[in-house]
Amino acid sequence: MSSQAEAMPTFPGYTRKTIDDEIVHPDLYATEEIHDVYAKLRKEDPLHLTQPENFRPFWSVLKHADIQEVEKNHQIFVNRLRTYLSPKQGEDWILKTTGDTHLFRTLVDLDDPIHMKLRALTQSWFMPPNLKKLEERIAGIAKDHVNRMEDLGSQCDFVKEVALWYPLRVIMMIMGVPPEDEAFMLRMTQEIFGPGDPDVTATATAKTDSGAFSAEGESVDLMQTALALYDYFGKVTADRRKNPRDDVASVIANGMIDGQPIGDREAMSYYIIVATAGHDTTSSTASGGLLQLMKNPAEMAKLKADLGLLPNAVEEMIRWVTPVKHFMRTATADYTLRGKTIKEGDGLCLFYWSGNRDEDVFEDPFKFKVDRNVSRHVAFGYGIHLCLGMHLARMEIKSLFNELLPRLKSIELAGEPKNTRANFVSGLKTLPVRYSFA
Ligand code: HEM
Repeated sequence: MSSQAEAMPTFPGYTRKTIDDEIVHPDLYATEEIHDVYAKLRKEDPLHLTQPENFRPFWSVLKHADIQEVEKNHQIFVNRLRTYLSPKQGEDWILKTTGDTHLFRTLVDLDDPIHMKLRALTQSWFMPPNLKKLEERIAGIAKDHVNRMEDLGSQCDFVKEVALWYPLRVIMMIMGVPPEDEAFMLRMTQEIFGPGDPDVTATATAKTDSGAFSAEGESVDLMQTALALYDYFGKVTADRRKNPRDDVASVIANGMIDGQPIGDREAMSYYIIVATAGHDTTSSTASGGLLQLMKNPAEMAKLKADLGLLPNAVEEMIRWVTPVKHFMRTATADYTLRGKTIKEGDGLCLFYWSGNRDEDVFEDPFKFKVDRNVSRHVAFGYGIHLCLGMHLARMEIKSLFNELLPRLKSIELAGEPKNTRANFVSGLKTLPVRYSFA
């Protein structure tokens, strides 16, 4: 990859002229007005041909059943051609700069058979039997973070002091990245997932981006992010090839496919997806879950009275927050869905947050209930790309609340919670709380 790449073009900005513009608009995700858009479309046009200004057209898939049907038919609906919503200028620039539709070749950018072969390298690491071995260490990290909250006195920003750092520490421990590099990894992730939010990106010292553009209409330097990450993980690969350890980085660095070592681009992409997918998602769920418990004191009381409800409550938090708002697919053949013809080459955007509020699947979908039967949510996706880290995410969130809830005497909002402005991975960026410990 060359550092001499042509600068990314300037994105003219998001508009709000039609419902099609609204569905991609980061501001609506921050205010959660997006639920009005989703609900209207679920009712009136649940498979909606969408043509926002400055984006290539795509079908918005709003219903739970349709999301599952598209994901199940992975031979027809592929990932490699278009993975995320990105303005047309960004997509064209990546194609011109890299000769490919993606900068990285992560699991979510690939299709079988290569996807499955790469996934198989680390799959067992992320399955419950292996995670069981890590349970105590994760509980210890949860305890450290709750201790930190207690040490801060009676008030803190739960996102900035606890929720952002805890899953980051866990995933870095699993990856084998030392604690002193955590701030760097956090910065990279936040700029990859939430480039539109100046509050989030303002803390950055390196200019980075995901191939998206900022909501302000500036373009940011995608190539710099890629180079920074390539440089960082290049050193990790060299080290683990020489000195393999019991960590995921060693599994990736020494991974073999069909008798050959995996390529450098694949290895880098692998680190990047595990490192990035593994923390903002979980931290958003933990802070969003806490906010719902505070807003619904009866649910908080129910859970505190019976921590056996915790695994279910965690699932409800994941449904509620749905931190990954969408992934995309492209049709490789004509296909009829909901009576409409999807044409070969058409893009589809799977709106998971809409699927998780689908009235046909969830009773009172806008009520947060810790004892809801929630097993069918699509927050982790479905099918062959089903989230690799889902068992880990569940264990982390459960460990945190298992430590926090019995120790809390009281907790309430101490200011206005705010969400990030992003249409891909989003959640709370600030959650001021006032509390006392027992
Ligand atoms: C609450 C937390 C999380 C949520 C809601 C979430 C959600 C998702 C979603 C929606 C997908 C795409 C699924 C699809 O296309 O069907 C995905 C894929 C993935 N997630 Fe997660 N994730 C979470 C946590 C994690 C964690 C902790 C890791 C750590 C390893 C992780 C690693 C991955 C990977 C590697 C993939 C790609 C899998 C593939 O393409 O085969 N995720 N996740």
